[in-house]
Amino acid sequence: MKGVILAGGLGTRLHPLTKITNKHLLPVYDKPMILYGIETLKRSGLTEIMIVCGREHAGHFMNFLGSGKEFGVKLSYALQDKNNGGISDALLYAEDFADRNNVAVILGDNIFEDNFSKAVSEFKTGAMVFFKKVPDPERFGVAVFDKSGKKLLAIEEKPKKPKSEYAQTGFYLYDSKVFSYIKKLKPSARGELEVTDTNNEYLKRGKLGFSFVSGFWFDVGMFDSLLQASNTIAQRAPKS
Ligand code: DAU
Repeated sequence: MKGVILAGGLGTRLHPLTKITNKHLLPVYDKPMILYGIETLKRSGLTEIMIVCGREHAGHFMNFLGSGKEFGVKLSYALQDKNNGGISDALLYAEDFADRNNVAVILGDNIFEDNFSKAVSEFKTGAMVFFKKVPDPERFGVAVFDKSGKKLLAIEEKPKKPKSEYAQTGFYLYDSKVFSYIKKLKPSARGELEVTDTNNEYLKRGKLGFSFVSGFWFDVGMFDSLLQASNTIAQRAPKS
């Protein structure tokens, strides 16, 4: 399996910082955000990684990360032409890199305490998503379960009235069919090819597995969550 970090988009929610550099190079406590994604993939057993980034400040990624050798991984890069084409649009740029293998995809602004090594090693076909109970599900893709709470019926993207407290996190496993499904998607009301629509496509076909994240999880796309993630990581860092 290969790893893909999606680090496109404009990061407008973090202006004016993202006028200086790419959102995914901003600091989370003591290191640039992108290193957390690389480490999560590495801890999950994936070392062949593609970073899909937007055109703005794209050179900053290569300057900092180079071939990835220093970080124990082998990096490739792709540019997403359309800023804010959506998460599924960004993944399309990794099709040749995936080369018909399964892929593990992580959103570059997601920080996980857990690793996914068990799910990665057990994954064969279909797709897999990972939920986390949160106090503010309306900010995310949200799971809809049946009355037993065991069967996943749908995932709704940023619903005004969430039907559960379980947010879809930014880590996904896909088989090679993902690219053909994305190519059939229509842009959402906000003009993006949504990851939620890709996942619902698998669900409709009975091919979407799910699991839960137990450690901390942050989507650091906003100032408050960026600060909260930095504070949490600082508190847990070994003191010298
Ligand atoms: O963090 C988890 C959430 O991420 C999920 O619960 C949602 O279902 C999913 O849609 C997404 O929501 P966000 O509104 O947080 O997505 P955002 O636009 O902030 O994009 C997240 C990352 O995806 C971003 O750091 C880089 C990548 N991305 C995003 C877009 C729109 C791209 O690479 N290209 C893009 O065009």
